[in-house]
Amino acid sequence: MNICFVGTGYVGLVSGVLFSDFGNTVYCVDNDKKKISNLEKGIIPIYEPGLEELVIRNFNSKRLIFTTDINEAIKKSDIIFIAVGTPPSKDGNSADLSSVFSVAKTISNNLNKHKIIITKSTVPLGTGDEIEKILSKKNKKNLFDVVSNPEFLREGEAIRDFKYPDRVVIGTNNVNKVTPIMTKLYEPIIKKGGKFIVVKRRAAELIKYAANAFLATKITFINEIANLCEKSDINVEDVAIGIGTDARIGSRFLRAGPAYGGSCFPKDTKALVKTAEKYNVNLNVVKSVIHSNDARSNLIANKILKIIKKPKGKKIGFLGVTFKANTDDMRDSSCLSIIPKLINKKCKINYYDPTGRKDIFEKNKSILFYNNIDSVIKNSDLVVIHTEWDEFKSLQFDKFRKKEKIIIFDLRNLYHPDDFINKKIKYFSIGRPQNV
Ligand code: UDX
Repeated sequence: MNICFVGTGYVGLVSGVLFSDFGNTVYCVDNDKKKISNLEKGIIPIYEPGLEELVIRNFNSKRLIFTTDINEAIKKSDIIFIAVGTPPSKDGNSADLSSVFSVAKTISNNLNKHKIIITKSTVPLGTGDEIEKILSKKNKKNLFDVVSNPEFLREGEAIRDFKYPDRVVIGTNNVNKVTPIMTKLYEPIIKKGGKFIVVKRRAAELIKYAANAFLATKITFINEIANLCEKSDINVEDVAIGIGTDARIGSRFLRAGPAYGGSCFPKDTKALVKTAEKYNVNLNVVKSVIHSNDARSNLIANKILKIIKKPKGKKIGFLGVTFKANTDDMRDSSCLSIIPKLINKKCKINYYDPTGRKDIFEKNKSILFYNNIDSVIKNSDLVVIHTEWDEFKSLQFDKFRKKEKIIIFDLRNLYHPDDFINKKIKYFSIGRPQNV
């Protein structure tokens, strides 16, 4: 099949490359000339393990074409994915759809034969209806079908999540015409056991938001249970195993941590609440999840201040600063709320991150980047393990500083309190007894 992806960000590039790896001809379109020429040289604009090799292989096999010529790419394709950014609007409470609608207008001018137009980006309820209106202005209804096909890719795991999804969700109001085409497109995934679910288009749009809001709820739930565990001499991992082995609950996304972040959960939970308000519906649970998660960074910062006692001049060393491991993405990373509170109390911040120094910290004189773990540990009064990179999982802390105590605050529970008994190391973590 000939497929066009408009937008070569996290969603568009990963999905486009993998569809080309299935043997389709894929046009990846972007209006950023520099980005397109870099992609043709195999320079990848995002940090996604394994993606570079896939891009180079499929580009060299001529199945994957990078172009800025959106009109040509649309004309040559049977299926057009709209995978442009839908960042939070200025008020932060809904999605900015200007790029989506401008792509829809361009598609409308290039419908030289029947095409399926798919929203892959996360778009609010009813966006497909709006796109349909734009296309109908200049085209007969039998020339196009607008479909919702939300993605469920996690940053850092996107290739695996694309190739082995639990389910593919197709939202369409024209089942007879659309289902066979989409079944053919996703055949390689269906063959591997991925469920193929066809629902109405608006249901598919809501599924995306509901999925992210539920995952955010699950994480926030275990984070609050962790707070209770700390006060009641219980290990939160024991509780997570005990509830997660119930098939109705499931064991994943029950790892207590510093607060969820990233480009999706914070944005999508707020957008869902706003959407519901438009229908006069109050999503109390999602609202309280947002509130609880926002408050969690304060709670973590206060624990850090309690551990170091006199904060003025103390050096807090962060191992990892991105919103999670296996990404370079700083969007809504919990450290972006924690660190300012520490600096307010006159702490100094050291940090190391496997993906390198961060622009957002460059101008801040209270924040110092180190390009290795040892220096952060040697030069800090408290070491905060902020992300769960593999390279943080087997550190020989006691070799670093014989004479003085090392204090560790493990926000990802990579270690266990028993690992530090009889060592000159004070260890704090999340949801375990003996916490601050
Ligand atoms: C998420 C959804 O998982 C994905 O399906 C959707 O398409 C995009 O949004 P992503 O934001 O990339 O993916 O990361 P994810 O792995 O879901 O983690 C989100 C946040 O939750 C991170 O801050 C992570 O550290 C945190 N998290 C995740 C926990 O604190 N505990 C967990 O058990 C899992």
